[in-house]
Amino acid sequence: MILVTGASGNVGRPLVDLLLRDGVPVRALTRDPAAAGLPAGADVVAGDLATIEAALPGVEAVFLVWPMPTADAAPAVVEAVAAHARRVVLLSSAAVLDGVGTDDNVIGRLHAGLEAPIAASGLEWTFLRPWGFATNTLAWAEEIRAHGTVSDIHGRVAASLIHERDIAAVAARALTGDGHAGAAYELTGPDLLTQVEQARIIGEAIGRPVRWREISRAEAHTRKVAAGFPPEFADVMLDGFAALAERPGRVTSAVEEVTGVPARTFRQWAADHAADFR
Ligand SMILES: NC(=O)c1ccc[n+]([C@@H]2O[C@H](COP(=O)([O-])OP(=O)(O)OC[C@H]3O[C@@H](n4cnc5c(N)ncnc54)[C@H](OP(=O)(O)O)[C@@H]3O)[C@@H](O)[C@H]2O)c1
Repeated sequence: MILVTGASGNVGRPLVDLLLRDGVPVRALTRDPAAAGLPAGADVVAGDLATIEAALPGVEAVFLVWPMPTADAAPAVVEAVAAHARRVVLLSSAAVLDGVGTDDNVIGRLHAGLEAPIAASGLEWTFLRPWGFATNTLAWAEEIRAHGTVSDIHGRVAASLIHERDIAAVAARALTGDGHAGAAYELTGPDLLTQVEQARIIGEAIGRPVRWREISRAEAHTRKVAAGFPPEFADVMLDGFAALAERPGRVTSAVEEVTGVPARTFRQWAADHAADFR
């Protein structure tokens, strides 16, 4: 039995589907089973990380997604997991690679604070360290639907956004296969595209042009906070974009190395999500 936390989320949902498709028993954790719309084949359990203990009996491996802005609760959650399971796969972040502990990258510090108790727990662990998710561009969906524009900052910044299904595919391998214990995978998509190009590709996927409108840092910050990000996270995200302007994002082959299949392109992602932008 594999426990998938964040099961209704971007990565958790396709992971549940993949595991069920492969005949692996899945327990899916969500705060609201009625709203989550998870597949009938999963053992859907109501709860969150604060109540994870109740979802752990009989579980061998856990996919851990951390939606909170601090790692304060991580030692208790990891202790509960280690009391039941033998393996954990953490959805961490490439921000951990960025000189964490010595700088003020709050996202890096958060994920390092999750990785540390896991590494010390005696569990078999695998850390997934993705760069930006393609799903981040869903933040543009409302404006694209309403006006056919994207108002954002650093249009010329390039990144290799990753398809959530590729993160899920790597997670499925790490949860069920051998040879992933102690590995930390730096995950990206296959293609380095500027944000202006990403917006254009979304337009091609929906059959309507999408125009880019460059905005100020202050406006971008206001929008991220309005979207629910803590202000210091919004700062780090904007700093990250500013840094990418100096040195483009990375492209790794980790998805293909782990799954045997090349990472999906952003064009593929846009086609898969065209309905979200129409
Ligand atoms: N976005 C990126 O570019 C990026 C890059 C690197 C790493 N990451 C990592 O990926 C994680 C996000 O993964 P994701 O996109 O799959 O997650 P997600 O879709 O944002 O959220 C996963 C699930 O967590 C639950 N949840 C949300 N907020 C919660 C809260 N405050 N308390 C308890 N549960 C909550 C929700 O499930 P229910 O409502 O069903 O309970 C949600 O469906 C980040 O937290 C970060 O660690 C993200």
